[in-house]
Amino acid sequence: VTARLTVDPAFAVAPVNRRIFGSFVEHMGRCVYGGIYEPGHPLADSAGMRSDVLELTRELGVSVVRYPGGNFVSGYRWEDGVGPVGERPRRFDLAWRAIETNAFGLNEFMDWAGKAGVEPMMAVNLGTRGIAEAAELVEYCNLPGGTAAADLRRKHGVGAPHGIRLWCLGNEMDGPWQTGSLTAYEYGRLAARAGQAMRKVDPTIELVACGSSNSGMPTFAAWEATVLEQAYDQVDYVSLHNYYDPLRLDPASFRASAVDLDRFIDDVLATADHVRAKLRRGKRIKLSLDEWNVWYQNDFTEPEDRPVAEEPPHLIEDDYTVTDAVVVGNLLISMLRHADRLTVGCQAQLANVIAPIRTEPGGAAWRQTIFHPFALTSALAHGTVLRVALTGPAMTTDRYGEVPALDAVAVHDPDRDELVLFVVNRSESPVPLDLDLRAFGGLAVTEQVTVTDTDPAARNSAAEPDRVVPRRLAPPAVDGGRAALVLPPISWHAIRCT
Ligand code: AHR
Repeated sequence: VTARLTVDPAFAVAPVNRRIFGSFVEHMGRCVYGGIYEPGHPLADSAGMRSDVLELTRELGVSVVRYPGGNFVSGYRWEDGVGPVGERPRRFDLAWRAIETNAFGLNEFMDWAGKAGVEPMMAVNLGTRGIAEAAELVEYCNLPGGTAAADLRRKHGVGAPHGIRLWCLGNEMDGPWQTGSLTAYEYGRLAARAGQAMRKVDPTIELVACGSSNSGMPTFAAWEATVLEQAYDQVDYVSLHNYYDPLRLDPASFRASAVDLDRFIDDVLATADHVRAKLRRGKRIKLSLDEWNVWYQNDFTEPEDRPVAEEPPHLIEDDYTVTDAVVVGNLLISMLRHADRLTVGCQAQLANVIAPIRTEPGGAAWRQTIFHPFALTSALAHGTVLRVALTGPAMTTDRYGEVPALDAVAVHDPDRDELVLFVVNRSESPVPLDLDLRAFGGLAVTEQVTVTDTDPAARNSAAEPDRVVPRRLAPPAVDGGRAALVLPPISWHAIRCT
């Protein structure tokens, strides 16, 4: 069956929001220590930041970075990580059962974020702490001076306020594993009260309430409804977290993970809009998909089953395949498709921990397979997202039944006179594709970049860091506004037309 993909500038969804190309740095495993920060590394700058990782972060095209957790934040005292390094306490990290030296803290992160050219997204601890500490953290970060917390920042050598706009009200507070987890009602009230106090300090901040830890949580949707009923007026976003596990799904369902993400997004939107109707509010809640990725969770050892780590342990350093990269590319297609409401996204995490960037202690940094579709989508997605009309063959999955073998979205930038199609073939068969560009007049396909391989299980490694790289294909000819392509099995494509 030949697939047909029709694009038209009239099918606009919303402008591309750069914030969907976010990432996440948690004090977990070797994401901070030995990842972005490794004093003594030959490529570390004077502040201990690895310049090779900074370079790769910029190449990845990361826009926003969420910090400092994750589960870590629910036991974290932000005051431990500021001020003279020699005076900072060593603490037991409740989330990962590791020793936190606090050598890296808030101001180091902001220094790193400035060097990486990313916007910070700060999470507050609503697990073991509460309203006062959250408001005081906003004061420390965002007020110019003249109050105790802001003056403390100045004393710590940071004269100008950090001006952090995006704030997460805790992390995964529905999860029984979360330190200080709460019921939906308890959390909704706390989020509303903390958010109110934080906004009193700085009315310009944007607040994200915790949604469900994943769409399979028994309280999913009821959690979002109850939390938003309590905190609707105080928050701007509700978060979504979802990881896709190649070991827990049949291969076809795993390759169709974006079907699940589409449903998850639509279900959270329906729930948020239900609360909007119930409360008779005009404002619409936006979505922050602030943890997403492929994660081989079967390989994960629960913190309780590990000895306390003195050195940052090698936690969940998954090695990603070509198939994983195609799935990541498809999840980005799903995010772009929802550009009207999903305006923040953070891939979890940035370095070493389920990450596109890996590092060797004292050695090299390298790109995993999943680095490539992210970097290319971030580099090429400009202008307005367009819905596409797509017909074609179906594939059978155990979890979702029959689903389309192909998925696609387009972005159109009239200023550059550029159209980019992001297309994925998630089936194990090649699919012929008829591209209908007639609505775009004289555009030609000028570039086709693909991530695929005859071995879909191929991975990059420290020994062979460029085993899997994107390949440029000869662009198909456009004749009368139409082009014919064949998409290889399990492949992701960026097709640029100018
Ligand atoms: O990203 C790893 C962990 O996954 C985060 O700490 C937590 O929020 C999620 O469960």
